[in-house]
Amino acid sequence: MPLHVVDHPLIQHKMSILRHKDTGPKEFRELVEEIAMLMAYEATRNFPLEPVDVETPLETTRMRAFLGKKVAVIPILRAGLGMVNGILQLIPAAKVGHVGIYRDHDTLKPVDYYSKFPEDLAERDVLLLDPMLATGGSASAAIEFLKSKGARSEAIKFVCLVAAPEGVRRIDETDNVVDIYTAALDRCLNSFGYIMPGLGDAGDRMFGTR
Ligand code: PRP
Ligand code: URA
Repeated sequence: MPLHVVDHPLIQHKMSILRHKDTGPKEFRELVEEIAMLMAYEATRNFPLEPVDVETPLETTRMRAFLGKKVAVIPILRAGLGMVNGILQLIPAAKVGHVGIYRDHDTLKPVDYYSKFPEDLAERDVLLLDPMLATGGSASAAIEFLKSKGARSEAIKFVCLVAAPEGVRRIDETDNVVDIYTAALDRCLNSFGYIMPGLGDAGDRMFGTR
């Protein structure tokens, strides 16, 4: 399973502030957006380019561009929403779908409640966003959901900020073709299913509600 731990110094610096318990919602949101943008730089590395001729003031030159490139950015609600704008700053033409999944507090099983995807999902590269990969239940459910709507496994990249080994294994069992990009691979889950050392509940910290 392709796991990419993106440990660029800028990302690691921002992650250290993001994880701190005293970082408030405003700064937390800004950091999630900034780190997502930096992660997108790596997650889009193998997107194909097409040749274009560009007229500079002096002559015509052959360049390469994202021509016809189709991307869907799909946050897992709620916390994935915080990553969307960072990615759209780099890929403004991307379409944005949504998948609503929450994790039942007692069973830790994913519960889905909403979805809206671009109609031509099958033709798009998909960046599936959620800052937290814990048991992997939510991400795996989202991946299965996307595939049932036509998305191709090889076109799906799951982009998160903190991953637990348990979640990485779960995605691998669900579909070992899907690429995972994370800013950190943490130690383990605790008995309540929280990532250790993690950063707590990402959605709660982002939006200030429980
Ligand atoms: C968090 C997080 C992931 C999920 C990860 O969402 O944003 O979606 O938990 O846990 P898992 O890998 O064990 O499924 P949460 O369920 O708290 O939903 P919410 O942010 O909408 O409240
Ligand atoms: N979801 C979160 O937001 N944080 C965790 O540590 C685990 C699941």
